Amino acid sequence: MKISSICCIGAGYVGGPTMAVIADRCPCIRVVVVDINAERIAAWNSDSLPVYEPGLEEVVRRARGRNLFFSTEIDSSIAEANCVFISVNTPTKTYGKGAGKASDLRYLEACTRRIAQFARGHTLVVEKSTLPVKSAETVQAILSVVSEGKTFDVLSNPEFLAEGSAIQDLFNPDRVLIGGQCSEACAALAAVYANWVPLDRILTTNLWSSEMAKLTANAFLAQRVSSINAISAFCEATGADVEEVAQAIGKDSRIGPKFLKASAGFGGSCFKKDILNLVYLCEHHGLPEVATYWEQVVILNEWQKHRVARTVVEKLFNTVAGKRIAILGFAFKKDTNDTRETPAITVCLDLLEEGAQLAVYDPKVSKASVLSALAHAGPTSTQQIFSVPSALEACAGADAVVVLTDWDEFRTLEWMTIASSMRQPAWVFDTRNCLDAQFIRKLGINLWGVGKPSNTKK
Ligand code: NAD
Ligand code: UGA
Repeated sequence: MKISSICCIGAGYVGGPTMAVIADRCPCIRVVVVDINAERIAAWNSDSLPVYEPGLEEVVRRARGRNLFFSTEIDSSIAEANCVFISVNTPTKTYGKGAGKASDLRYLEACTRRIAQFARGHTLVVEKSTLPVKSAETVQAILSVVSEGKTFDVLSNPEFLAEGSAIQDLFNPDRVLIGGQCSEACAALAAVYANWVPLDRILTTNLWSSEMAKLTANAFLAQRVSSINAISAFCEATGADVEEVAQAIGKDSRIGPKFLKASAGFGGSCFKKDILNLVYLCEHHGLPEVATYWEQVVILNEWQKHRVARTVVEKLFNTVAGKRIAILGFAFKKDTNDTRETPAITVCLDLLEEGAQLAVYDPKVSKASVLSALAHAGPTSTQQIFSVPSALEACAGADAVVVLTDWDEFRTLEWMTIASSMRQPAWVFDTRNCLDAQFIRKLGINLWGVGKPSNTKK
């Protein structure tokens, strides 16, 4: 069994970058990424890629047209491949049983049925999407009813890349995980990754462990963010400094230094949905205490987002009605244009509800994306939102600046200019602790940092 031709269904944040790296590192394998979204495919074939990731453009430029192709020809691409990755979205269900928690598996099922119909000969079917444990059973059940000499092996190969560092993560992964029942099929997929990943980082497990490990990894990571955010509130109440606490605990090799940065909460398309999926599955398996334990990670995260907005209002004399507030950063983290579940949505909606005027600036998020993210989340008055082309313009005339994403350019803003252009008394709210607090305070601006001791002008 040797993989010579790959079709990846789903040209999103995972499918696009992952397949670009496979094509780049395996010039002998033909890789076709397909999607029902023709606009997205056109963008992948253009100079303006639909996903912003440092390093992605170079990789795509090297491989596109050589052995990497983006296409809407789904059926023929499935037919020509001997390995089909499923990398479609698996959002939280919004209807019926499990609404608000369970994963919506209709896209997975649609793809699987299409693979069943159009695959030829023997095909490896690889779950790349994050799925509920036991999803492979469904995939196998659908594939098992086809005849005409078609055979399939189903593998789970979850993706652990983080947005903003996707290319780095793909080139140099901590591990590649392959779950399967057939060792020959696992070995065939492992051979693809072995082109650039050291063998001791390619793990094989049974199917269910692989599916479970993906959900568990995201739950553990999100739990760390909620843990440090919980402590950030406690620090503010006591005068402790969350960064000093994080540094002190991170030195313990059992805890480690990563993922201990306090923030306005975690965002992104996956942490919340994957934990809610875990919660749903635990409830389904009669484990209510386990479900409640994990659900608290999401509850704390929601609380932290609202807490930040509440703090802004409180510091501005308990009213922001009619006040201009600069929002610096709208993406859920730096180095991505992704706004899915960004904490900025909750913070902005809360401030809008209080009557604020928001001047939003993000280097990679367009005004249309800001408006659509906010409109999607709740009723908004577009007259209260301005999207401006620079941080300086956002801050001009503002009563407060709220830094929500830690874009590098925010570290070197011209605070002297900003200080003279803001309405006094001016406030800066740094939810990433990425600014030079001492310098800003010296300019006469009040500064609140998440989890930091209260404003002391030095
Ligand atoms: P995405 O929404 O960016 O992309 C999914 C794509 O699948 C869309 O372009 C959609 O049009 C396409 N699609 C849906 N149904 C289809 C069908 N029947 N045929 C063809 N195309 C179809 O999603 P994403 O962020 O790439 O995530 C994909 C999966 O990977 C999810 O399960 C997610 O949990 C998981 N994941 C995401 C990340 C991340 O950083 N975004 C990281 C690891 C894992
Ligand atoms: C996360 C995981 O890190 C990936 O391993 C996983 O593959 C991916 O989810 C997924 O399954 O989708 P991602 O959401 O892209 O990746 O980005 P992270 O770096 O994990 O950040 C998630 C959120 O947590 C961001 O809003 C970030 O700002 C926040 N965060 C992260 C903190 O607030 N503090 C931290 O210390 C770390």
